[in-house]
Parts: sequence; C-alpha cells; structure tokens
Amino acid sequence: MLKIDDYAAFCRVATPFYYYDIDLFTRTADLVAGLSERTGIQVHYSLKANSDHRLNDILSARGIGADCVSGDEIEFAVGCGYDPKKIFFAGVGKTDKEICQAFQVGIGAFVVESLEEIEIVGDIARRLGRKAPVSLRINPNIDPHTHHYITTGLYEDKFGISDRSFDEAVAMVLGNPYIDVFGLQFHIGSQIMEVADVVKLECEKVNDIVARFEAAGMEVKNIDLGGGLGVDYDEPDDNPLPDFEVWFKTIADNLKRRPDQTVHVEPGRSLVAQSGSLITEVLYVKKGENRRFLMVDAGMNDLIRPALYGAYHKIENVTAFYEDGPKRENRVYDVVGPVCESADCFGKERVLAKSRRGDRIAIRSAGAYGQVMASHYNMRPLAPSVYSDRLAEAPRKKDYFIGE
Ligand code: LLP
Repeated sequence: MLKIDDYAAFCRVATPFYYYDIDLFTRTADLVAGLSERTGIQVHYSLKANSDHRLNDILSARGIGADCVSGDEIEFAVGCGYDPKKIFFAGVGKTDKEICQAFQVGIGAFVVESLEEIEIVGDIARRLGRKAPVSLRINPNIDPHTHHYITTGLYEDKFGISDRSFDEAVAMVLGNPYIDVFGLQFHIGSQIMEVADVVKLECEKVNDIVARFEAAGMEVKNIDLGGGLGVDYDEPDDNPLPDFEVWFKTIADNLKRRPDQTVHVEPGRSLVAQSGSLITEVLYVKKGENRRFLMVDAGMNDLIRPALYGAYHKIENVTAFYEDGPKRENRVYDVVGPVCESADCFGKERVLAKSRRGDRIAIRSAGAYGQVMASHYNMRPLAPSVYSDRLAEAPRKKDYFIGE
C-alpha cells in the first residue's frame, strides 16, 4: 500500500495529483549516485521520464548528469543545476534551433543518429565557429524483450546508425574539423526486466562494435550504454528500488573498458517510476450490465500509459486501507476515467476494497512517463506535483457548497 505519513493532510489536497514520495526518491538518487561513484560509471538522468523541477534539483545536486531530447529540455536541465558538460543531447530529429540552443549552453555531447545529422551538426558548428562534441548513436540490433513500442535498438527502429553506415560515419566525423569525436552511444529499449542477460548481450555487442570503430581509426573515448532498466509494476512495495546493482555490476563485469575510457548510462524510468503515484478520487460506482465501473476523476489525459501501451499499473484504494483497515470486503472493478474515449481505462477487472464515492485511489509506479505525457485533452487541467513532505503547500480541495 502507498506510504502516506500525514494522511489527514493528504486528504485535503485537490485531486487528481501526482504524489511524489520524496523519501523514496532521495534513497533512489543516493543509491544511484553511490554506485556511480563506486564503479566510475557516469549517470545521466533521462529527463524525458519526469521533468518535475524539484526531483531534478535532487538529482543534479548529487552530481548526476542529464540526457535530453529537445532544446527546451536542455535549457530546463541547466535551470535545474545540471552541469552543462554532463548534458547529452539525443534524438532523431534535432532542429537547427535546438542544435544552436545546445551550442549556447555548451553541452557535453551531441548524440547523432544519422549520417545526415553528422553533416548538419558539423555545418552549424562551422557557421558558429565552434567544435561539436559528437557521439555516434549505434543501432546494435538487439532485442531487449520488452514492449515493441519501447524497443529502440533493432534494425527496424528509426534510431541510430546501423552497420552498413559505420565506415562512412567514421570518415565523416574524422574528416570534419568542426567535429570532436566524443564516443559511441547505444540504447536498446526500455523497461528491460531480464537485465543481467540483456545487458550482458549488449556489452558483448558493444565490445565488438567499439573494436571495429577503433580499428577504423576512430578513438572511442566514451561509451554510453543508454537507459532501459525496468521496474516492478506488479509489486512496487516489494521492489521500490530497481535492480541498479545488477545493472552496474553486469556492465562492470562485461564491458571491456580501457582505463582512459569513460562509461555512461542514461536511466530514466528506474530513477523516478516507483516514487510517483497518480492520486484520484472516486466519482461514481456504476453498475453496468455485467461489469462494475469505478469512475474516477483522473483520466487518460493524466496518465496515458495504460491506453497507449496496455501498461499495467497497480491500483489501490487508499481510503479503505487508512480508514477502515481490513474491514471492507473486496470487489472487482474496471477503473475508468471521465475522458470521452473507451481507451480511458486504468485497469480492467481489478480487485479492490469495496469503494465509495469520495474514496482516494492510488495508481502506482506512475512517476516515470506519467506527468510528462499528460495532455489537456477534453480541456482538462494538468494534474500538479505534490510532495510527501510538503502536503501543506499543495492545492486544497475546495468546498463548493459553503453557505448552502
Ligand atoms: N536514453 C535514450 C536515448 C532513450 O531513448 C531513453 C528512453 C532513455 C535513455 C531512458 O530509458 P529508460 O531508462 O527510461 O527506460 N514512454 C514509454 C517509454 C519511452 C522511452 C523512450 N526512451 C513508457 O511510458 O514506457
């Protein structure tokens, strides 16, 4: 069950909102910063997973860098205190404006994804009278055994430079005086659960590819293995901290690394997912012909992962647990939102404590790709961030019937 230290204050906050457990988040950040220091593997948080300012301040304060995919993410990262030199800029479709933004900030590396992009980045560098630090994103053709929507390192995916273009890429970066070769980058997919096996395979592939590039005359000073570490969506309380140790150890054991080579990773989901929950209130309990619906006040516009990927998020009735303990019996519900789409469903046939209007429901493990993927669809407002240790500052639930 979701941990709430001050339940009374929690109940005064207007729903829906994203609730961040700052204690768990800080522990996660500390664990990762500690492992990074011990293993010498530099961590760049993939900001796309969650761009809450406070969470990012906590990460940057621990010396963690950032992996960005837009010009605005880069500027935001700087505002959150990330060291510009530790900011990487990836993405298959960088615009001229974004490339210039990155130069202005003085980022650590452009992760270029195609031969065409090498040319454009080099050309803009020339016009600005600068040198572009460039990492080549390689498509290693590895299946990470995850959802096909979040697989990124297969030949059929749009990401990275594939085998057939390696030689040409080397010739282009070495032949361009406005490009400084930084290294190679790999990212094979997200929500990887078989981390030891998949990352071992990734490292073996990377060893071969690094050797090929070096044989072709390109010094690989930096190796970036991307993100992808998965989290336990089924039982977030059993595994609040993802398997960072296995991830780092698998890299340390399998990646062939010279002492002068630095190694980087770009975790997104694993740093933030378990610390965030979407909190919503039951509006109606509706009996359909053969299903019981729990209509809640959050919708797919607040958390689109179930509708978009069929993603599973654990759902809990917080009110039943904190107010009645085990007294309420269970019922089976389809938990649905108010948006005018059948896909606006957070979970079908979920067993929950018997629920009533006004009960608070937690949709767990929503810290990653939750709030950032929200939209105003149906002209609904965006759910704000609420922090476990600052409940008193959160927007209050209003009483609309005063004076009635
Ligand atoms: N590096 C690169 C180049 C990436 O494309 C990504 C994620 C990451 C790092 C971070 O990966 P992570 O550690 O979070 O797995 N919206 C989807 C996930 C999309 C991931 C996109 N790329 C979801 O909700 O599952």
